[in-house]
Amino acid sequence: MSNDPLLQPYQLKHLHLRNRIMITSHEPAYSENGMPTERYRAYHVERAKAGVALTMTAGSAAVSLDSPPVFDNLLVYKDEIVPWMKDLTDECHEHGTAVMIQLTHLGRRTRWDKGEWLPAVSPSHRREPSHKAFPKKIEDWDIDRIIKDYTDAAERMYAAGLDGIELQAYGHLMDQFWSPLTNTLEGPYGGDTDNRLRFTFDLLKSIRQRVGNEFIVGLRYTGDEMLPGGLNAEDGLSISQRLKESGMVDFLNVVRGHIDTDAGLTDVIPIQGMRNSPHLDFAGEIRSATDFPVFHAAKIPDVATARYAIASGKVDMVGMTRAHMTDPHIVRKIIAGQEDSIRPCVGANYCLDRIYQGGAAFCIHNAATGRELSMPHTIPAAPQRKKIVIVGAGPGGLEAARVAAERGHEVVVFEAASDAGGQILLTSQSPRRHEMISIIDWRMQQCEAMGVTFHFNTYAEADTVLAEKPDAVIVATGGLPDTEVLASGNELVVSTWDIISRSVKPGSNVLLFDDAGDHAALQAAEVIANSGARVEIMTPDRSFAPEVMAMNLVPYMRTLQQKDVTFTVTYRLHSVSRDGNELVATVGSDYDDGSRDFTQSRRIDQVVINHGTLPLDDLYFDLKPHSVNEGEVNYSDLIDGQPQKLNKNSEGQFQLFRIGDAVSARNTHAAIYDALRLVKDL
Ligand SMILES: Cc1cc2nc3c(=O)[nH]c(=O)nc-3n(C[C@H](O)[C@H](O)[C@H](O)COP(=O)(O)O)c2cc1C
Ligand code: SF4
Repeated sequence: MSNDPLLQPYQLKHLHLRNRIMITSHEPAYSENGMPTERYRAYHVERAKAGVALTMTAGSAAVSLDSPPVFDNLLVYKDEIVPWMKDLTDECHEHGTAVMIQLTHLGRRTRWDKGEWLPAVSPSHRREPSHKAFPKKIEDWDIDRIIKDYTDAAERMYAAGLDGIELQAYGHLMDQFWSPLTNTLEGPYGGDTDNRLRFTFDLLKSIRQRVGNEFIVGLRYTGDEMLPGGLNAEDGLSISQRLKESGMVDFLNVVRGHIDTDAGLTDVIPIQGMRNSPHLDFAGEIRSATDFPVFHAAKIPDVATARYAIASGKVDMVGMTRAHMTDPHIVRKIIAGQEDSIRPCVGANYCLDRIYQGGAAFCIHNAATGRELSMPHTIPAAPQRKKIVIVGAGPGGLEAARVAAERGHEVVVFEAASDAGGQILLTSQSPRRHEMISIIDWRMQQCEAMGVTFHFNTYAEADTVLAEKPDAVIVATGGLPDTEVLASGNELVVSTWDIISRSVKPGSNVLLFDDAGDHAALQAAEVIANSGARVEIMTPDRSFAPEVMAMNLVPYMRTLQQKDVTFTVTYRLHSVSRDGNELVATVGSDYDDGSRDFTQSRRIDQVVINHGTLPLDDLYFDLKPHSVNEGEVNYSDLIDGQPQKLNKNSEGQFQLFRIGDAVSARNTHAAIYDALRLVKDL
């Protein structure tokens, strides 16, 4: 038996947990009509097979009709969920993983124009800044109804054979009762602490009456709202004690902070560039004060920190949630002594930010997560060894190299630069986003271990590639910034890449025209603003930086709002001209219908353009006539997971494909997904 603290079993009442690593509840938005169907199940089963001790399914599974999901959450108020949850649970159990689910009523943290268009309810009329519904103030009949809904939902999960449930109490209805900031009720459910906790204890009693004392019931709750006038750490400790002493709760899953704003949420669930394990000590304080089972997760991305969390006795079960989205096989790799090969979570938060924009949670650099039914986490060997030449060692090219090498192919990579990384080399220039370089480092480590040959400082021409006599060629040459977007004055502007790479010095009074809405604009703005310059970020869109998304925006705003930065939306830069030492920018608007003049001008000393990239595709077009498929991809076969078989050119010598930004400007996930889904069948 290993003496690794992480691999020690844990006994929670009657439940044997095989190690100390859990996945905390997170809604990946893979459900279909609120049901955890095959895709949802496959996602959890992949992680169960690899050894995680406990998976807390769902995230904010909705118990009531007036708690409509904001991101495709499971609908536990429907009876039809029982067989789906039973299938998921049974299959995870077969692999030794315990299964629980998080149940909730969102209270004001939702919208009235979702689901059945019922009013949101909360113990006050106070609006939640994030979701913006003005809630109805909860009435007695709502309370009775919602307690019954929770109880029915708990019974459904009991019937489905789950090991337990967790009630969500941070930012949702339950702690909206707790917090003086969101509870203005009078009478039995408002006022002093006892009254504000009454809803929770009434609910727990009702659940216990229905499912008995054996079924595991825990709370995931904030132990300190960290808001003026909100619940503080002392209140949190007192609530923790009361929960324990009630005898109705089996574990405390500790959170610190508030999630009613994007900034608050980002402090609760920190992203890249923010401190690791910021709330671990706090969770440890609750554990030592209560001497009760404590679970906790908040940016504990690596095994060493997780091990410390357990070894130091701060928590009983450590959550590695996003870490498992990046690498589902963490536990298997720890057991096998392969910790070094764990794909690292880089805190990009693409997963979480996407669900708030209505998408499914995808990991920025594991394209198989959430696609377990079609994309492998472990690449099978190819029936026949081939020679694969890859041009470009950015994220897409390196993923192609890694997957091809896993297939057992001979792989040769050409890269014009002296280092691998492509655009990620630029991204990671920002100290805050430096963790991104692990996307490259991990792939380089994997490729080197599998014997991939790299030729750096080599600008591959068609002849270079042909001389290799490849069976397949992947062009992953990326793109270069497209700044030719103005009616005149294109020669007077610089690109965001020029600024981020420091190849051009920031001016002192800068107009940054962002027509792509992605990280590059804000990253360049940060460099400019940090130099002491004034910068105006202008976009023709109705909001700025839409591709950066909510939680990723937080650290940018924390920097930019401290500096001399202004934001202008709905205006478009038309042209730039020179006037002595100054530049004159002419600005218009897409809303201009000619009835009045929208035109403005700016006098600045530098114009920076962010407008995506244009593909570097010369090599691809040079190679096309030499290939059997003339570069064509059969999309049906690609999507069905079939090998590419097109043979259009009897003289052709190899298959040819291009991926990532060498096709069109997209993002890191797209480049990696292009590579995985193509090369897994080569
Ligand atoms: C896609 C996604 C959805 C999440 N949804 C929920 C949720 O519904 N309820 C919840 O309590 N936590 C949710 N979380 C937060 C996680 O449970 C966890 O606290 C957070 O990711 C920090 O842990 P980590 O750093 O190990 O990922 C979500 C996280 C992610 C990535
Ligand atoms: S998208 Fe980023 S934060 Fe989310 S799991 Fe992947 S690496 Fe981690």
